[in-house]
Order: sequence, then structure tokens, then C-alpha cells
Amino acid sequence: MLAAGCAAAPTPAPATAEAEEVITLPAPRQKGPLSLEEALARRRSVREYAPRSLTWEEIGQLLWAAQGITSPQGFRTAPSAGALYPLEVYVVLPEGVYHYLPHPHALRRTAAGDRRSALGDAAVRQRPVYEAPAVFVIAGVYERTAAKYGQRAQRYVHLEAGHAAQNLLLQAAALGLGAVPIGAFHDDQVRAVLGLGADETPLYLIPVGAPR
Ligand SMILES: Cc1cc2nc3c(=O)[nH]c(=O)nc-3n(C[C@H](O)[C@H](O)[C@H](O)COP(=O)(O)O)c2cc1C
Repeated sequence: MLAAGCAAAPTPAPATAEAEEVITLPAPRQKGPLSLEEALARRRSVREYAPRSLTWEEIGQLLWAAQGITSPQGFRTAPSAGALYPLEVYVVLPEGVYHYLPHPHALRRTAAGDRRSALGDAAVRQRPVYEAPAVFVIAGVYERTAAKYGQRAQRYVHLEAGHAAQNLLLQAAALGLGAVPIGAFHDDQVRAVLGLGADETPLYLIPVGAPR
């Protein structure tokens, strides 16, 4: 059940052709100063952030951790039932809403303008969503997995969102960033704020920033 106090459904500006900008992300690194064990030990939910933006390197690294491609066959950092990859990842920045394209490791801007405030309203007014410089959103397309696995698909898509989210959270810890997984939000409001397709269900919001 969601906490009380959320605002009326937001009415964001529609995405425009001008918003459809593609940004090639820096190549993700596959070595870092922290071991996996150290990242596991350091991961903590962080809800207060320093007033600095994330770099494109940080944004790209976090997206790669969540859903990056790691083999010529197209397999990804996170496991997926039947390798059907039902997850879509977005990042909400002050400049707009961006959809992650794993294959070119790029971002496509799907909406212009700062939607973090409307997203915060949709997330029952949780402060990290208003205040983080970047909010990652993991959405699932159940139909992609249901075509093969029928009723088992919902379970599989939720498990996969957990895998992707944990990868992102551990990558944030390894980069010295703070993040918190957020499950309390109104699906329809998040869908409207981000301009998600009717087949995309938002499953997780993950605000990320340098810890304050
Ligand atoms: C499924 C799920 C949903 C969560 N939703 C929220 C949320 O809406 N807001 C929030 O501040 N934290 C949320 N959290 C974070 C938990 O509060 C946090 O993981 C817990 O307090 C343990 O702290 P730690 O993450 O620092 O180990 C969520 C965690 C999970 C696993």
C-alpha cells in the first residue's frame, strides 16, 4: 500500500520530435578500484545527495550495469528468462527523459524538460525523487516474456527487475555514489510523467547522486 499525500495526476508536456535526441554514451569500463565484496559491503540506501550532476560516464556505467550488452550474441549484464529481455530502462535528468538503448549503448531523449518534480509527486512525494540529479526507472514489458512463458512471466519480469536494480545499486556503490530503490509510486502517474507505452509497467525508481 502506498503512503498518503500524493498530488493529482500530473500532465506533462507531450514528447516532441525535437526531443528525440540520441546521445552515444562513453564506453563502460570493466575494471574499477573496488572489489565486488567491497561494493556489497558498502551498499546502503542513500537518500540525500550533494548538489552536483552525474557525469555521462557515471550515467553510462550505471545503465550498463543494469542492462548493458556483454557478448556478441547480445547477452546482458543481468540474467533474463529465455534471454527475452523484457526490461526497459529510463533515466530522468534535468534536461529530459532518456531511454537506454543497450545495443548502441546510447540514450534516446523521449521527452524534454525537467520531470523530476512530477515524478516525485507520482512517488508519493518522496524527497530523493525530487532531489537526486538522476532518477533511473526500470520498466517491464510482460508480453515479451509471456509469449514464451505464459502466466510465469510476471514472476520472471519481477525477478529480472530485481537483478537489474541490484546491479545498478552495486555499481553506484562501486562509483562512490548514493542510491535508493523505490517501490512506492503510482504506476499510472509514473507512466504519464515519463510518457511510457501502455505495455510498459514501471517497476522500480532508483534516484542516484553523489552522497551529501
Ligand atoms: C522492494 C523494495 C521497495 C522499496 N521502496 C522504498 C521506497 O519506496 N522508499 C524508500 O525510501 N526506500 C525504499 N526501499 C529501500 C528500503 O527502505 C531499504 O532497502 C531498507 O531500509 C534497508 O536499508 P539498506 O538498503 O540501506 O540496506 C525499498 C526496498 C525494496 C527492496
